[in-house]
Amino acid sequence: MTQDQQFIIRGGRILSGTVRVGGAKNAALKVIAASLLSKEPWRIERLPLVEDVLRVVELVRSLGVAVSGPQVDGTVILHAEGEVVSDLDTEIAKRIRASIVLTGPILARQGRVSFPHPGGCVIGERPIDVFLKGYRAMGAEVAEENDRYVVTALGGLRGADIFFPVVSVTGTETLMMAATLAKGTTVLRNAAMEPEVASLADFLNACGARISGHGTPTIRIEGVDALGGGTYRTMPDRIETGSFALMAAATRSKIAIEACEPSHLDALWDLLQYAGVLVEKREQSVLIDATGSAPLAPKNITTHEYPGFATDLQAPAVVFLTQCSGAARVHETIFEGRLQWTGDLVRMGASIEMADPHRVFVHGPASLRGRSIKSPDIRAGMAFVIAALVAEGETTIHNIYQIDRGYEKLEERLRRIGADIRRVTGNQEPVISTSSVADDASYALSGRTGKF
Ligand code: EPZ
Repeated sequence: MTQDQQFIIRGGRILSGTVRVGGAKNAALKVIAASLLSKEPWRIERLPLVEDVLRVVELVRSLGVAVSGPQVDGTVILHAEGEVVSDLDTEIAKRIRASIVLTGPILARQGRVSFPHPGGCVIGERPIDVFLKGYRAMGAEVAEENDRYVVTALGGLRGADIFFPVVSVTGTETLMMAATLAKGTTVLRNAAMEPEVASLADFLNACGARISGHGTPTIRIEGVDALGGGTYRTMPDRIETGSFALMAAATRSKIAIEACEPSHLDALWDLLQYAGVLVEKREQSVLIDATGSAPLAPKNITTHEYPGFATDLQAPAVVFLTQCSGAARVHETIFEGRLQWTGDLVRMGASIEMADPHRVFVHGPASLRGRSIKSPDIRAGMAFVIAALVAEGETTIHNIYQIDRGYEKLEERLRRIGADIRRVTGNQEPVISTSSVADDASYALSGRTGKF
């Protein structure tokens, strides 16, 4: 039996104080990958020391990148000076979906890359068709051999006009990186507009790339011969910011969230202010005050590419909606499997009906009670932490490696704002798992099409 770490949480407490946000995991992962585009040293500051980031640092080291750090202060130096390996290690690449972003820089630098189909997870199948379509458009050959892809462009990549049939964050980032060293100009149409994409483009430009239009649906990249060195300070993690804001709101607490970028979360502030939560935004901090006694008003949520409501905040928002007075529909438009986790929330006492894999109806307020739960992925894991803080009694959350993938020193930061949470290591995993719960009769598809 593998060592299973758990969080033990006693809920029902009002939280208060200040929590500090870290660097954005989904920005840092891409800048680490992009270091393969240059033969000069890159310094990255404010790196979040979370599992996914530490794994990708290991991955680039295994490819031949010289790595100094990361230090405890989140600083790391990456230097891809010599030859790099162009075959991604299957075991590590399958563990980290984000490893797919490495294929662009390696292909651009080496003219060849081979990699396994990256793992999916409970949130969805996670296809890579837009990556392969983009590589072919840029003149590469794509072959599939024994569950691995081999992409070759021995004469180097050439600029292309590429339309994304679906908006893909890592697809946009990976092809943008590859295009920086292609011969000629590349245009990416229907590109992702997430702040992490713009942050990556700005840094690549600081290293000598020629990218424009980032942050809009059309990005233009003029290929250059080489990229230089530079220093990247990781942008604040907007999903961590939103997770803590929803935690404050769901527990009727007052929490100051520091070192964040409030302007990245307009869709969330709209939901919280509609509910009656006080949201005071400043330059790099936001105060969330939900200590009023008035009932919280629910609002329907539809997840959407940026600047719409972030799919990564859907799970924490569903827990918040269980504490609102009334009913709300949550429509998860991005991933087909990203509502499965709600089955376990029902077992904690939530009143949720699944209309189809993309839509649930949440009825509140519901009294939640502690129980043993397994964390299926990063964001559902954080949702269960929030649910445990709301619930009466004790909750054990298993498989918290998933939470450590995206949230650094979570229990330390939560204890500082008054949460009763501790980390223990044990061997027993819970009997219940989300998938078995999904078949649970009490969670059958209701087929209800009520007006919301
Ligand atoms: C990124 O994943 C994030 N991960 C995810 O965060 C985030 O949920 C997602 O963007 C959406 O915002 C990282 O940045 C490492 P997509 P990504 O490609 O790029 C479909 C977290 O918790 N699609 O934008 O993999 C896909 O199936 C993680 O931090 C194709 O059809 O997501 C999905 O339905 C979870 N073909 C939609 O596009 C493709 O080739 C959006 O996916 C690629 C994607």
